[in-house]
Amino acid sequence: MENVINYIKENENNYIEELKEFLRIPSISTVQDNKEDIKRAANFVAEKLKVAGMNRVEVYKTEGHPIVYGEWLGAPGKPTIVIYGHYDVQPVDPIELWDNPPFDPVIKDGKIYARGATDDKGQMFMHIKTVEAFFKTAGSLPLNVKFLIEGEEEIGSESLETFINNNTELLKCDTVLISDTALYGPGIPTLTYGLRGLCYMEVEVTGPNRDLHSGTFGGGIANPINVLAEMISKLQNKDGKIKIPHFYDDVVKLSKKERDRFGTLKFSDRNFAKELGVSQLKGEKGYTTLERIWARPSLDCNGIIGGYTTAGAKTVLPSTVMAKISMRLVPNQNPNKIARNFIKYIKALTPKSVKVKIKNLHGANPILTPLNNPATIAASKAMEKAFGKKIVYMREGGSVPIVSVFEKKLKAPTVLMGLGLNTENLHSPNEHFNLRHFQLGIMSSAYFMQEYSG
Ligand code: BES
Ligand code: MN
Ligand code: MN
Repeated sequence: MENVINYIKENENNYIEELKEFLRIPSISTVQDNKEDIKRAANFVAEKLKVAGMNRVEVYKTEGHPIVYGEWLGAPGKPTIVIYGHYDVQPVDPIELWDNPPFDPVIKDGKIYARGATDDKGQMFMHIKTVEAFFKTAGSLPLNVKFLIEGEEEIGSESLETFINNNTELLKCDTVLISDTALYGPGIPTLTYGLRGLCYMEVEVTGPNRDLHSGTFGGGIANPINVLAEMISKLQNKDGKIKIPHFYDDVVKLSKKERDRFGTLKFSDRNFAKELGVSQLKGEKGYTTLERIWARPSLDCNGIIGGYTTAGAKTVLPSTVMAKISMRLVPNQNPNKIARNFIKYIKALTPKSVKVKIKNLHGANPILTPLNNPATIAASKAMEKAFGKKIVYMREGGSVPIVSVFEKKLKAPTVLMGLGLNTENLHSPNEHFNLRHFQLGIMSSAYFMQEYSG
């Protein structure tokens, strides 16, 4: 094990150079023009898996973006782990707010800046380097490993879900290891045992058959922007409760034990507000900030468009406006059921003066993994060893849609060994990844393989 750790330390700079190369590929999954770059990113991952020492490396074509698979099953009798990650990244807009071009990685103060640095290229890459370190020193891995790296995480993982359904035997494993979440804070070894789910809707409101002069027609006809704003305002009450009928029916109450555990984590509302540049926080009455973000559902308008939005004034009543509304879900809320109730409620709120069209864009199931399974216990020990500190358990407000499919189809618990930080600007300009955490992540992964192999 000492050799493996030394190899990781000695090769830090090589690893970073390779990561830079990976980060230069603009593999944005939502943008159609980037199809070639997506392919390049998939091939890059496949190549690195081969060089690291994995067998049977394959790039599977799908209806969407390719899936990269690579295995090494040379440890019969030992456990098998699937390592999941994603090579796709979010769009870069607003590009003018980046201090450096998003696909031209630079290092400043021990952090690497680029789109995808923390979500998820940097984190996913750690495990490839762990495997390489084992093969280069010990010549083998302590357990069986199957890599499964996709390119559609940021757009809902549809192709991967089909792939898993069709390949449950290929992906058979004892646990799934994922680094696509965050540490509780810098240098704090952390495992995440809960993810919120998601229900993402689009609401389009249409009034008159064309844009109208707001003087000639204003006051005589319903303005779709005003109507939509009124509808949005009726989705929540003053106490932050969501007013969609039956919304809370399936919500699992937070136990006293878990609330107490959240309470032991150092968390300052004041610092949180300050870091975000707001003078007051806001959320559901009766819950702390951590409870609100990790274990209670939320509803937010993510975007709204309509009417005249460029410089200066134009007097106009728009014909059509649209809002994107997402709901973060907690166990045992079901995204499809929530979507149905949302549609019903929006329809009920729609006045006769306009027409409404509602689309369900995508969803994810919420996740809660029990902490007392052997994989989580091994992961705790591994991270404690690498960081030299006691492990912290947390839940996460974000979603990784495929995790619930892993748990259902592969019947294996998930280990969420994230090395990011929620302050690393994922999905936002100047995304970065702390390189110390990059190295600690590679070591944690190595200790985990050792520890879990028994
Ligand atoms: N890695 C994130 C999930 C995440 C976010 C973990 C914040 C920890 C902290 C993942 O790539 C992501 O962005 N998920 C999306 C899912 C959606 C696009 C279906 C999310 O949560 O919005
Ligand atoms: Mn991610
Ligand atoms: Mn993401």
